[in-house]
Amino acid sequence: MRSVILGVGAHLPERVVTNAELSQRVDTSDEWIVERTGIRQRHIAAEDELTSHLAIAASRKALEAAGREAKDIDLIIVATTTPDLTFPATAARVQAALGVHQGAAFDVQAVCSGFVFALATADNFLMRGQAKAALVIGAETFSRLLDWEDRGTCVLFGDGAGAVVLEAQPDETERGVISTFIRTDGRMHDLLYVDGGPSQTNSVGKVRMVGNAVFRQAVEHISGAMLEACARAGVTIDTVDWFVPHQANQRILDGVARKLGIPAEKVVITVGSHGNTSAASVPLALDAAVRDGRIKKGQLVLIEALGGGLTWGAALFRM
Ligand code: UT7
Repeated sequence: MRSVILGVGAHLPERVVTNAELSQRVDTSDEWIVERTGIRQRHIAAEDELTSHLAIAASRKALEAAGREAKDIDLIIVATTTPDLTFPATAARVQAALGVHQGAAFDVQAVCSGFVFALATADNFLMRGQAKAALVIGAETFSRLLDWEDRGTCVLFGDGAGAVVLEAQPDETERGVISTFIRTDGRMHDLLYVDGGPSQTNSVGKVRMVGNAVFRQAVEHISGAMLEACARAGVTIDTVDWFVPHQANQRILDGVARKLGIPAEKVVITVGSHGNTSAASVPLALDAAVRDGRIKKGQLVLIEALGGGLTWGAALFRM
């Protein structure tokens, strides 16, 4: 059996905030943001627009693309750092809204690596026969965690959601997840964190990041994870058709591509149009490249991410 990606969907809030608009709020400039990150704009959720709303919209599109209905899904995993409420899981709301009345629904918290962790988790459930079809979602209203006085972080992030439908199918077509690799090193906890939480501060808190230190870790660990995912699958990196990375910073994408000798045409890049959407970033990019026809059925795709924890990982699948 293999966990086959049958459909992809995504959703972005309507409101777009450009670098020019941000530079009226904080001491920054379009030039600095574009040169250092590649980001030109980000989507920001309306006050009454919740993570679950974005997740539900993306899921509906993924189900439609997959040709599946609520009755077919028996596992929902939402990767998010910005749940609607501390509990229950945002996945429970998504499940109810979609009319899924069987199986389990829970959230996974690995910040920007969340989608890779959620995909790896779902793949294990499907491969063990403990679920038949899963919705794996990355959804964030990350703007809620931003300190709008901190120019080092507030220019980087945005809101959005992406989802895939994953179904256990007999391994006849070679489609599906081939390998996953996830890692956490809690010693680097303080490089990227939120300074609040129910247990420690009884509050939500704001994002704090030692940007340049995370940057250095990112290039090294992302490259390592990509090589490991390929090694576990017994393939070399040059046989991969498409690279769909976490969209944190154009310079990180360039650095990884240079290190591994990956041609720029094979890398899906969306960071310019929606910035870093944390767990939503990989499925948003995947959706863009599937919908515009770049990624085709049968092609080999490698996803990767790194985020707070630190966490990082990669997954290789055939569409
Ligand atoms: O998704 C989770 C993982 N996160 C990441 O992967 C993010 C990794 N880090 C990065 O992408 C980059 O480190 C940043 C984009 C956050 C920063 O770029 P950098 O080239 O590492 O800059 P820096 O932090 O070393 O700061 C350079 C200068 C500083 O000024 P001084 O001290 O040299 O005078 C900052 O104060 O840039 C200044 N700066 C800004 N200037 C204008 C920082 N933010 C801004 C800003 N506008 N928004």
